[in-house]
Amino acid sequence: MAQLNRWKMTFLLSGALSLTLSGCSYIQQYMPSDRHESSDQSDQSGAGSQQQAEKNDQSKTKTNSKPTQQQKWDVPDRFLLKNTIKTTPEGKRVVTNPASLLVCADKKRNLPADYEPKNLVIPDVYFPYGKNAKREKMHMRKVAAEALEQLFAAAKQDGIRLMAISGYRSYERQVSVFNWHVSQKGSVEKANRVSARPGQSEHQTGLSMDISSEQIGPDLTQKFGDTKAGKWVAAHAAEYGFILRYPPGKEAITGYEYEPWHLRYVGKQPAETIANHHLTLEEYLSE
Ligand code: DAL
Ligand code: ZN
Repeated sequence: MAQLNRWKMTFLLSGALSLTLSGCSYIQQYMPSDRHESSDQSDQSGAGSQQQAEKNDQSKTKTNSKPTQQQKWDVPDRFLLKNTIKTTPEGKRVVTNPASLLVCADKKRNLPADYEPKNLVIPDVYFPYGKNAKREKMHMRKVAAEALEQLFAAAKQDGIRLMAISGYRSYERQVSVFNWHVSQKGSVEKANRVSARPGQSEHQTGLSMDISSEQIGPDLTQKFGDTKAGKWVAAHAAEYGFILRYPPGKEAITGYEYEPWHLRYVGKQPAETIANHHLTLEEYLSE
């Protein structure tokens, strides 16, 4: 009888222990990394499943040369392009998830004109605007700002001095930035290959930052991509959750020319999948 009781106790204790442990791993996987950004919670759960998806992917690609897209990236349905868009009565296509870390804004997908992200902060990185500057464009969402600080610190360790140039861009500033590009390029069409129309710039999400290096200076040029700093960023951005949003040769998909300076935060696991498979955000979020 005593032996039976001991056995029962052992059984109950081991059951309780395994429930506690699986609860911990569940919490780790599904808790948002930035608890103030409640809207990021659903993103993190989406990103959390990516690691397993990648493992599955690796084993599948060995045996099956043409896996389906769903098998490849395993993005939860609720983040796919087709499930995050609505058309207004005026015929404008507007995204339904502007606060998501996986939001995709482009020429076919407007952000709501009145969308302003919460938790905009100035990352503690070098900006070439003087010590006490606090410009709108220096801001990013907190979750992205913290990741940018880590990226800049890692670059510095490798002897690369990056500088941040332009992050958050309100709808009103997009109007003036786009008009400036039209005046420089001479037409709306030419301007729109390098600059987004108001409401279509992902800078409005607070998840993007244009960067350069001390060697290149504050101008945003494609030359940055050929420098040691540009190559370092292309190789390491994903480790910190960033993608190069406008890669070379993908203008037909992204709508914009190559921008080696434009970083977009999506979270580590999506960034690594996107980088490893040379995808654009549009491709990653397609069926
Ligand atoms: N240069 C990018 C496309 C923007 O204007 O948001
Ligand atoms: Zn940019």
